[in-house]
Amino acid sequence: MMKINPSASPLYMLSCLVMLLLLPLPSLLAADPDPLQDFCVADLSASTSVNGFLCKPASNVSSDDFFFDGLSKEGNTTNVFGSRVTAANVLSFPGLNTLGSSINRVDFAPGGINPPHSHPRASETGVVISGQLLVGFVTTGNVYFSKVISAGQIFVIPRGLVHFQKNVGQEKALAFTSFNSQLPGADVLPLNLFASTPPIPNDVLTKAFQVGDDVVNSIKSKFGS
Ligand code: GLV
Ligand code: MN
Repeated sequence: MMKINPSASPLYMLSCLVMLLLLPLPSLLAADPDPLQDFCVADLSASTSVNGFLCKPASNVSSDDFFFDGLSKEGNTTNVFGSRVTAANVLSFPGLNTLGSSINRVDFAPGGINPPHSHPRASETGVVISGQLLVGFVTTGNVYFSKVISAGQIFVIPRGLVHFQKNVGQEKALAFTSFNSQLPGADVLPLNLFASTPPIPNDVLTKAFQVGDDVVNSIKSKFGS
């Protein structure tokens, strides 16, 4: 009688395929990969490049690596948007390396906006410390969700979705935002589209927005390109 090699059976091959497809699932669901040690303070000067940063030798790590006072001061909001994002991510605070977490301070002048942008690598939660903010985001199906919130109230922006905040109060406003990534990244739409290097050709932008060269040139000039 012919013997069937179990490793060649269709059922075995199907289970192997399912296993292979499921293997990357945990890493797809998490924002940043899980750490493999207690800490890995980033060595930002290492010449080797990995997905994240190499760890400083533990013998060179001190308490200062786990504290950061860069968010204690008000940001300068004198700019076209009337807002300032100050980031505590792995680049400014290397102790965050491999920990899947970072935080921003966002200051707003009256009427200031944090312009429409998205974070490719993280969801965002935010808390308003003072003032009144209109917080809005748009889904991939172009549904707009928004609310005006004030001190002590929080919001969440699902990963990758375009969102903004606007100070709709009479006074300055302050919020802190946190991310499930050490380096969430930010695609700031007005800058991405109208101030890239090299610039996106005008004929792309005029057709995308159904406007003339004059409008595109005028927007580009506002962002210095
Ligand atoms: C706010 O949206 C921020 O990205 O800090
Ligand atoms: Mn944001």
